[in-house]
Amino acid sequence: MTLLIIHGSPRKNGCSSNIAKLLINKLNPKKVLEIDIHRDKLPYCTGCMNCLQKGIENCPHSDITLEYKEKILEADVIIVASPVYILHMSAQLKSFFDHFPSMCIMHRPESEIFNKQLVIISTSAGSSIKKTIKEIDGIFTFFGFSKIYKLPIKVMAENYKSLSAKKTEEINKKVNKVSTKILKNQNKTKVNIRVRGWFYIARVLQKRNFMSELDNIHWNNKGWLNKSRPWK
Ligand SMILES: Cc1cc2nc3c(=O)[nH]c(=O)nc-3n(C[C@H](O)[C@H](O)[C@H](O)COP(=O)(O)O)c2cc1C
Repeated sequence: MTLLIIHGSPRKNGCSSNIAKLLINKLNPKKVLEIDIHRDKLPYCTGCMNCLQKGIENCPHSDITLEYKEKILEADVIIVASPVYILHMSAQLKSFFDHFPSMCIMHRPESEIFNKQLVIISTSAGSSIKKTIKEIDGIFTFFGFSKIYKLPIKVMAENYKSLSAKKTEEINKKVNKVSTKILKNQNKTKVNIRVRGWFYIARVLQKRNFMSELDNIHWNNKGWLNKSRPWK
């Protein structure tokens, strides 16, 4: 298994990344890829629209984003780890997403995405994580990910070292549960109703030529306007 960890926290040794490490150890992948948005100093999206109109290779930050895309496509399992910042995902993670509207189902989704597994880890000091997980889940679903596991954890601590024994036990239990499911579902992921729904809505829009020429070429080349589908 090739695994990709996307660090949404600027704290590489923070709670979210440490919980991700626990999961990685359980999964024991052959290869681990990393995206560290903070370390890479990914600039904000400039709103130039190049990714949508000309292709992601024309993004002003393509020196970073093309490598990100390659890693996303290579991985079998992706873990995204983000803290809750003011009740939402971190700005780093949002900035990451802002660079990939072209990969959404409505535009030019990648076939490989539909059969991968993804885990969302999100930690907060104590407030609800539901909204943060829901927004991250919604975006990845819109990329075509079907098998998404959620690991929300209220850490009740400032850093990973100061977690209580009870909290550590709770985290271990949750991580074990998710890792068992991931290992069981390897190469067996099925595309869910939400993703299928988005795909067929997008297909109608593409068939009626509502989207860009570049999108239309992509859908035609993939054969999705005929009988081919991006899932197995
Ligand atoms: C800028 C900032 C905003 C935060 N906002 C919240 C919040 O709204 N609710 C909450 O419970 N914790 C909040 N926290 C605490 C973090 O969510 C918590 O410490 C988290 O575990 C940090 O993750 P990390 O160690 O992976 O960086 C905030 C922390 C920072 C630095």
